[in-house]
Amino acid sequence: MKDTEMLEQNVTNHPVKIAARNVQVYYGDSQAIRDVDIDINDKTVTAFIGPSGCGKSTFLRCINRMNDTIDAARVTGDIRIDGEDIYDKRVDPVQLRAKVGMVFQKPNPFPKSIYDNVAYGPRIHGLAQNKADLDGIVEQALRRGAIWDEVKDRLHAPGTGLSGGQQQRLCIARAVATEPEVLLMDEPCSALDPIATAQVEELIDELRQNYSVVIVTHSMQQAARVSQKTAFFHLGNLVEFGDTDDIFTRPQDPRTESYITGRIG
Ligand SMILES: Nc1ncnc2c1ncn2[C@@H]1O[C@H](COP(=O)(O)OP(=O)(O)OP(=O)(O)O)[C@@H](O)[C@H]1O
Ligand SMILES: [Mg+2]
Repeated sequence: MKDTEMLEQNVTNHPVKIAARNVQVYYGDSQAIRDVDIDINDKTVTAFIGPSGCGKSTFLRCINRMNDTIDAARVTGDIRIDGEDIYDKRVDPVQLRAKVGMVFQKPNPFPKSIYDNVAYGPRIHGLAQNKADLDGIVEQALRRGAIWDEVKDRLHAPGTGLSGGQQQRLCIARAVATEPEVLLMDEPCSALDPIATAQVEELIDELRQNYSVVIVTHSMQQAARVSQKTAFFHLGNLVEFGDTDDIFTRPQDPRTESYITGRIG
């Protein structure tokens, strides 16, 4: 990418979508995340980087309450999406997860057809009036997942029969089918080859037009390529957060500098 393109890409004045304050996460007695405050912008890709075990996935899971599904996990603090407290008792986590989609490290299609993988969310959330409507939603999601052309002639074949990279794009299509506002991606390319990785990265760049995207990655090249904002975590702390350009060229904290120059991690 040229320097000028990089600069343009990194100018982001979009409103805050996700605001976290004073977030702590414990697994039993051990604390995995401490005192995290962060504002994540809409229509922006935010990368979470940091050494293994620093709490990236734990914090990511706070944003759609996936930690609710882990018995030992306890989350305190305040996380708001569009000003609404997502941990409020009145919030239904299932509804929340339709609005805040997630893509995991390992592609995890359901043991169903390609069509049914994508139609599943829209069906349970009642997003389609009839079959034609649902067909349209499925096609649009597969197009947004950049996989339509590869699967349009075999929509009723099993999703698990696709290649790894295709499965991951199917999972992205499944995540966008419920019209989420936020997309969380935990190392979405780690099981993919360079070609599939490039396709998913291109897709992430497109998704930014409509969503707030948060991506966990171990690849600093990937963070630099796809994100406009970067957050560096270390031992459960959010050490530094800022424009991706600044984090990679002018880090303020010595821990960030050590990590990006390969001295820790
Ligand atoms: N289900 C769990 N039960 C107990 N401890 C956990 C659980 N999940 C994570 N932890 C602990 O919380 C800390 C943060 O883990 P987390 O998975 O969030 O790190 P990470 O930054 O995503 O690491 P990686 O880059 O290896 O994926 C680690 O010490 C980990 O052992
Ligand atoms: Mg992780």
